[in-house]
Amino acid sequence: MPGTDEAAEAITAAVVDSFRDTPDPRLRELLQGLVRHLHDYVREVRPTTQEWEHAVDYLTAVGQTCDPTRQEFILLSDVLGVSTLVETVNERGGGTESTVLGPFHVVESPRRASGDSVALMGAGTPCVVSLRVTSADGSPLAAASVDVWQCTEDGFYDVQQPDVQPRGNGRGLFRTDHEGRLWFRTVVPSHYPIPTDGPVGRLLLATGRHPYRPAHIHFIVEADGHRPLTTHMFVADSPYQDSDAVFAVKESLVVDFAQVDDADKARAYQVTAPFRMAEFDIVVEPEPEPEPKPEPTEDAW
Ligand code: BEZ
Ligand code: FE
Repeated sequence: MPGTDEAAEAITAAVVDSFRDTPDPRLRELLQGLVRHLHDYVREVRPTTQEWEHAVDYLTAVGQTCDPTRQEFILLSDVLGVSTLVETVNERGGGTESTVLGPFHVVESPRRASGDSVALMGAGTPCVVSLRVTSADGSPLAAASVDVWQCTEDGFYDVQQPDVQPRGNGRGLFRTDHEGRLWFRTVVPSHYPIPTDGPVGRLLLATGRHPYRPAHIHFIVEADGHRPLTTHMFVADSPYQDSDAVFAVKESLVVDFAQVDDADKARAYQVTAPFRMAEFDIVVEPEPEPEPKPEPTEDAW
């Protein structure tokens, strides 16, 4: 019996069964499913004891790399495609596609008014981003909050360069107007490598994978009565569109950042010509009505 398939199956069955009395049914489902799949993985690839110890050491190192501005576990989930898979399986299909949060949404964005600039350092190709937020039926959503964050033209977020960039560079928390619109000034973000100086970087190196993400701007959109949306807008002509290190590109999120040479338009947007202009319509899905609670019946007593 030791070492046989039946012995292995019996271990799995016992562990799954150990969770049978979990009061929260969803927690029970999550844990029992995790055990089944994890045990199937072990049965399939048969890691040696040394390999398993190595895996534990690796996860320990991932945890030890985390601090208030560095989230290596999110990064690991990202490069394994799990973050984008979780987003995708939770989509309902009625709004703008979601994509990964990423590890750099670690500070509060400064509140900004429509028309403000999020680029506090000046360097880079001037860019105007114009957004419109609507509900799934096309009606504009006023006072929706739109949290924006992006890297510089050199490919770094403010939290990666605390001695170089002012805190809040590339970030802004905006509200839409009565037409669901807002716009802001920025610089065109660059493609960039995800952090490679930790355990996730070692994994990419050991597997011959590159660390680059195509250029993008992040958004979290929240509107009353609607599901929050975490997404990006990708710069259409950026490299790595077809091989994002975190598998997060969705075609519907790729946006043309058109060059505008018109000096009058530039003046109207308080930028210098030529500049790049990106327009993006964001659709958020209404929150489903809560299920009506069944009336208690006499039998229930
Ligand atoms: C980001 O876009 O900020 C990001 C997402 C996943 C991993 C690393 C960075
Ligand atoms: Fe990013």
